[in-house]
Amino acid sequence: MCGIVAYVGPRDAQPILLDALSRLEYRGYDSAGLAILNGKGIEVRKKSGRIQELAKICLAEPVKGRLGISHTRWATHGAATDKNAHPHLDASGRLALVHNGVIENYLELKTKLMETGHIFLSETDTEILAHLVGEAFSSSREKGDARLVEAVRSAVQQIQGTLGIAVIHADMPGLIVGARRGSPLVIGVGEGENFLASDTQALAPYTNRVVILQDKEIVSLRADRFDVASPLGIRENVKVEEIEDGVAASDKGVHQHFMLKEIFEQPSAIQNAFRGRLDADGATAKLGGLNMSPQELRQIDRICVLGCGTALHAGMVGKYLIETLAKIPVETQHSSEFRYGDSPVSGRTLFFAVSQSGETADTLGALREARRRGFTVLGICNNVASTIARESDGGVYMHAGPEIGVAATKSFTSQLVIFTLIGLLLGRLRFLSAAHGRELLQAMENLPAQITQCLAYSDAIREIAQRYAHASSMLFLGRLANFPIALEGALKVKEITYIHAEGYPSAELKHGVIALIDKETPTVLLATQDGVYDKNLGNLQEIKARSGPIIAVAHDDDKKICTLADTVLKVPRTHELLQPILNIVPLQLLAYHIGVALGRDVDKPRNLAKSVTVE
Ligand code: G6P
Repeated sequence: MCGIVAYVGPRDAQPILLDALSRLEYRGYDSAGLAILNGKGIEVRKKSGRIQELAKICLAEPVKGRLGISHTRWATHGAATDKNAHPHLDASGRLALVHNGVIENYLELKTKLMETGHIFLSETDTEILAHLVGEAFSSSREKGDARLVEAVRSAVQQIQGTLGIAVIHADMPGLIVGARRGSPLVIGVGEGENFLASDTQALAPYTNRVVILQDKEIVSLRADRFDVASPLGIRENVKVEEIEDGVAASDKGVHQHFMLKEIFEQPSAIQNAFRGRLDADGATAKLGGLNMSPQELRQIDRICVLGCGTALHAGMVGKYLIETLAKIPVETQHSSEFRYGDSPVSGRTLFFAVSQSGETADTLGALREARRRGFTVLGICNNVASTIARESDGGVYMHAGPEIGVAATKSFTSQLVIFTLIGLLLGRLRFLSAAHGRELLQAMENLPAQITQCLAYSDAIREIAQRYAHASSMLFLGRLANFPIALEGALKVKEITYIHAEGYPSAELKHGVIALIDKETPTVLLATQDGVYDKNLGNLQEIKARSGPIIAVAHDDDKKICTLADTVLKVPRTHELLQPILNIVPLQLLAYHIGVALGRDVDKPRNLAKSVTVE
């Protein structure tokens, strides 16, 4: 949430900042700005709207200089206006700061500063921090770079809340100071130039050599060197890591949107999730990163899955998979509820923190709370360099490749594959027979080709989408493992189309939801042939009796459903436990095509951000 990029080196900073910022736009996109040292002082450009709006004013009146900071915003305090866009200046106008995070005690600090004559130009919490650093800088007795570093440290100490910041001062040419507490920051190490960014994706064309800042560290960055200090002192022997991925992130290929590209990447994404992890001989899964012995895994008697949004829906399918395959009771909790709740957790509970980005503030907070209580927490993340991946006791990487579209798609199906592998491994350590394990492995190997079959219906789904695009409300129903698929289908529709949508267990229909049904309100019913197929057909009849249009997700050879539903979204038949992985695909396509039909900005829907680093 909010993206930061800073540059110092021999090149013109403005084009680099604008380009790198555009790679972070998925973190927030309501306003953007930059500040560059132009040889005399600090020059700022900022603008509400997308980064291209900022680029327009920068191109009309370029800022010349070789050191700068920049920001793309997702508003928390203050509307998305030019004034509230970052960077913010201190009282002297010689210091500029960009911030990702939330300052919780900002009102108290603002009142104090105003009493001493400070005037604020914006409604943001960030401007308070700029003034605090400025105050500390002007009263500092430190010399050299330490003057700005210590000013940042002293200001940060007064703050309650989260921050990732980059600061520059006109009196300290050549220096950028960054600090993090809660919100991520990485250093990009170049040849005679250095970068600071919220994540590695921003840096893809410039360098693949990075240093991930640890929580509470401060960095001073110059073109030819950088120093990292923790609260305990200077971090010696800082390890520079080489990262992969990234460049492909900015390329939509033949697709109109990243979301569609990522939906179409699912055959290879899920293959990457299980590649090298299928053990045919043992009829089980090999998950080397769990850092737990078979004995330790056998002692687990409960599992708790933490996540937000789509990641939580994956956990809900995971509950069904693990309970069926390994007979271990699983509970799922919204990360935000777990971290502040009193929920009792039994002694031998294993936690999973599920997060595509690995940076979601609530999931990170929940992970820390579970670890503080002494539990083992395993991460299921896509972003290898992320904070959740680093702070987990072990885990399973998704290897889905960068996901840029704000609505999660390929990360969801990858998470479902990983939960299947976890369920299989835990099951085979208990009572699950080799024959059952082998059946599942074989079915899993066929999944990529079957997802390709689902994708072949994209054009047909586009036509269906046009028929339903003008609905003002949609319902999604499913039972058992298809209930979370109903939730996820409804979430895609809300995110991408802004149509009101709700997901329910099919049988809940009678308990209130049925009052919503009329001939204008389509119901999407997950009705693949499984143990509850007939029950779902009963619900279908109840909807039909009230003139509600029905879109059924059904097996491609199911003739009966074609006579009952108004529209059928066809999926191939697979192992019952894997069916949700196929069933979500037509729902992703449906939401996508409705969004396009309504002219929505599907990759950057209003009010959302991909990486939610505020709680
Ligand atoms: C945001 C995104 C969702 C995502 C959720 C959790 O709300 O818009 O698509 O599911 O965060 O993200 P995570 O990175 O933790 O999986």
